[in-house]
Amino acid sequence: MAKDKILVIGASGQIGVELTLALRKIYGNNNVIASDLREENELLKGTGPYVSIDVMNKEMLHVQVIRQNITQIYLLAAILSATGEKNPTLAWNLNMQGLLNVLDIAREENLKKVYWPSSIAVFGPTSPKQNCPQQTVIEPITVYGISKYAGEFWCNYYYQRFGLDVRSLRYPGLISYKSAPGGGTTDYAVEIFNEAIENKTYQCFLSENTYLPMMYMTDAINATINLMEAPADNISVRTSYNVAGVSFSPKEIAAEIQTHIPDFTISYKPDSRQNIADSWPQSIDDTVARNDWGWQPAFNLQKLTIEMLDNLKLSL
Ligand SMILES: NC(=O)c1ccc[n+]([C@@H]2O[C@H](COP(=O)([O-])OP(=O)(O)OC[C@H]3O[C@@H](n4cnc5c(N)ncnc54)[C@H](O)[C@@H]3O)[C@@H](O)[C@H]2O)c1
Repeated sequence: MAKDKILVIGASGQIGVELTLALRKIYGNNNVIASDLREENELLKGTGPYVSIDVMNKEMLHVQVIRQNITQIYLLAAILSATGEKNPTLAWNLNMQGLLNVLDIAREENLKKVYWPSSIAVFGPTSPKQNCPQQTVIEPITVYGISKYAGEFWCNYYYQRFGLDVRSLRYPGLISYKSAPGGGTTDYAVEIFNEAIENKTYQCFLSENTYLPMMYMTDAINATINLMEAPADNISVRTSYNVAGVSFSPKEIAAEIQTHIPDFTISYKPDSRQNIADSWPQSIDDTVARNDWGWQPAFNLQKLTIEMLDNLKLSL
């Protein structure tokens, strides 16, 4: 069987860096091509090939897919929820056209698999707040959520109509220390750790009791790879799978940090991101992912807090 050759688009972002490094361990450094519009992330340098790609430039992307003998694409380039509200047209254009370019090229070149993440942002104020199910009322209020929901149906369409093996997860807010978050509503859960270590105080842009679904990056990478490696017959959802890690509020994560840094203090000054957060579920039901391909998270709030503080202290 021919070797897989993977293209990661948006490899310099919060997820891209860690996913590229994880894929390189599995498939070999030279078989995973990192690409991004911005320069190569420092952590990727020297670990494998990098090419500059604008996902909006379909011709350039197509040339690279052929030239590099790509068999799988992971598309991570997107504009996230909070940034999207500042420039809705740009967010819609990138999030939609970028996906359509990739799906079209994947179909034309008969690629084996495509990965594209959706988000809990597809859910809106009319979705259930607790244990939000896989299939439910979905009426997003952000341009980001609208683009993700539309994207889910494009993925399903390419699977149904052309047999393209495209797979997707609805990530919750992702918590990581390697690469900074890119403008989402859950970014506070990363900022809080940096500020706790550097300044022992943090002003949170969400109110203290705002519960949101979150996930430690290690779990997110494992979920992604487990989904992509599962036999195609196990994949019953061709829009996007709910996956859950942990749910907590700013008050709860602050209390957890205080068990390690007792003089850490938090204050609250909600901004426009509060409105987005209030529209999302507080927790997610991921039974279908668990049943289909054995999803199980490993990190709870206590464990991820220890990992974040330990790793950020080391990087000081
Ligand atoms: N981080 C989260 O908490 C989270 C939660 C849910 C879903 N997601 C989804 O996961 C994916 C990756 O998110 P992330 O947090 O790593 O985002 P990020 O903003 O950190 O990274 C996105 C990367 O895409 C690149 N990019 C932007 N425009 C591009 C273009 N035209 N061509 C090529 N590259 C381009 C950016 O330079 C950036 O490095 C996105 O689809 C996002 O919607 C993320």
